Amino acid sequence: MAFANLIDGRAIAAQIQGELSQRIAALKARGVQPGLAFVRVGEDAASKVYVGRKEKTSGELGIHSETHVLPEATSETDLLELIAKLNADSRVHGILVQAPLPKQIRQEIIYASVRPEKDVDGFHPMNVGKLMLGDDTGFKPCTPAGVMELLVRSGVKTDGAEVVILGRGNIVGKPMAAMLCQKGRAANATVTICHSATRDIKAHCRRADILIAAMGVAEFVKADMVKPGAVVMDVGVNRVADAASKSGSRLVGDVAFAEVQPIAGKITPNPGGVGPMTIAMLMQNTVRAAEVATK
Ligand code: GUN
Repeated sequence: MAFANLIDGRAIAAQIQGELSQRIAALKARGVQPGLAFVRVGEDAASKVYVGRKEKTSGELGIHSETHVLPEATSETDLLELIAKLNADSRVHGILVQAPLPKQIRQEIIYASVRPEKDVDGFHPMNVGKLMLGDDTGFKPCTPAGVMELLVRSGVKTDGAEVVILGRGNIVGKPMAAMLCQKGRAANATVTICHSATRDIKAHCRRADILIAAMGVAEFVKADMVKPGAVVMDVGVNRVADAASKSGSRLVGDVAFAEVQPIAGKITPNPGGVGPMTIAMLMQNTVRAAEVATK
């Protein structure tokens, strides 16, 4: 009984990937292999792990992937040149430039340089704008799209629900709010975004029917911040020191899972919750990019 309320992100991601396999087979039947280009700048340890996982899943699904690694000291001009090449390459349907980028490179310039039709990350201003407008022809950022899919496929009703999002970042918090407050099916929520200047975060959290933690503070959400029966989605990935671990550290989410799990109505484990969904949504965006580019 102890884990009856878990939202199994691995199982749901596997289900989505099964659905994508059929679409990939249909593309292959007409001579199209979806292609995804990864760009990584420098040697950020977490980025290596993330890109490695995305490459592995691409391979398993039969999506062509190629990874371009540039040195830490790469100039903005060199990176723009690579993106221009990938924009023009018809085998590449999706381009993902892994964040964070080194200081000398302006992230907003880079994301605006990816052709919106290949922007499977959903970070181009055109796609951000379409999301705000409720125009489904754009690409949605993978992590908040994955959270939405987990809610829908776990039968969580968002209509009229009080949703509290912790974190206002461009990758999760802001797009998450835009998706949930949209008029339409599987949305229609009343959304509050909390951030570092919010007064009394605990009071906001305690009235949430759905609490989404995406601010990047290890185990910030404690049991006394959660309304009994609430749905808790943990987006955080934080490395903390752990003398008992071989590597000297371990990964934890933004939710103190052990104490929150018994009172939550449903909760994502971490790892094994939102993470696998980010990858599944990237694959879904890539398959759609290939379908649209070749139809
Ligand atoms: N860094 C952390 N999350 C993401 C993501 O979803 N996409 C990219 N490109 N970089 C990230």
